[in-house]
Amino acid sequence: VAETSESDFVFRQIKPGDRLVGLSLGDAKFTPLKTYLQRNAAVHHNANLAKTYGSFTSSHPSRLVGYITLVCGQIELQRELADLGQEVEYGYDHYPAIKIARLAVDRRYKGRGIGQTLVKLALAIVRNEVCPHVGCRFVVVDAKPESVSFYEEKVGFTALATHENRASDRPVMFVDIHRAARAMSS
Ligand SMILES: CC(C)(COP(=O)(O)OP(=O)(O)OC[C@H]1O[C@@H](n2cnc3c(N)ncnc32)[C@H](O)[C@@H]1OP(=O)(O)O)[C@@H](O)C(=O)NCCC(=O)NCCS
Repeated sequence: VAETSESDFVFRQIKPGDRLVGLSLGDAKFTPLKTYLQRNAAVHHNANLAKTYGSFTSSHPSRLVGYITLVCGQIELQRELADLGQEVEYGYDHYPAIKIARLAVDRRYKGRGIGQTLVKLALAIVRNEVCPHVGCRFVVVDAKPESVSFYEEKVGFTALATHENRASDRPVMFVDIHRAARAMSS
């Protein structure tokens, strides 16, 4: 699952030789997403501080047009919201999670399913590569306000239902991987 391809794009981990400059995100408020890719993504990737997966055009296989960065994280949930199933006694407020630290798609390539595929790739990596080996139940993201409906409607995330979170400028959103996997297999 660590690599997938749609007809026009290939999705895989970044590697030496990839062109990580030139991402165009339009609005200046997204500049940190561009800067991270240019300056930090490869260094963090190699130092195991973050792992970045890119979308590359099939015609220029080293040209990145979208990316997602994953790190370890956790999520604080009210127990009833975590809803692990009646049989599970856990006893902590913080639950193990993988965090989507960054997600961006070049504005010239928006609306072609790249964002959705990158998030689905991340969910598949967590479900198939992480969960079988390390305790990890959720995928989380501190969503930008403009992307809340994308996460909710397109890739099945739920916003943490607290008043503070709803009012936050970076609402926490999550997917319960275990539940999602059960739903897929039933
Ligand atoms: C959010 C983002 C990653 C989506 O990438 P994308 O490649 O354009 O998304 P997709 O093409 O996979 O979108 C699939 C669907 O979601 C819809 N969609 C895209 N952005 C959306 C948004 N912000 N809100 C609601 N729906 C959205 C598309 O219209 C499309 O719908 P359709 O399948 O019914 O036609 C991209 O818009 C982006 O880079 N935004 C700026 C940075 C950002 O907000 N990053 C998130 C940080 S938490």
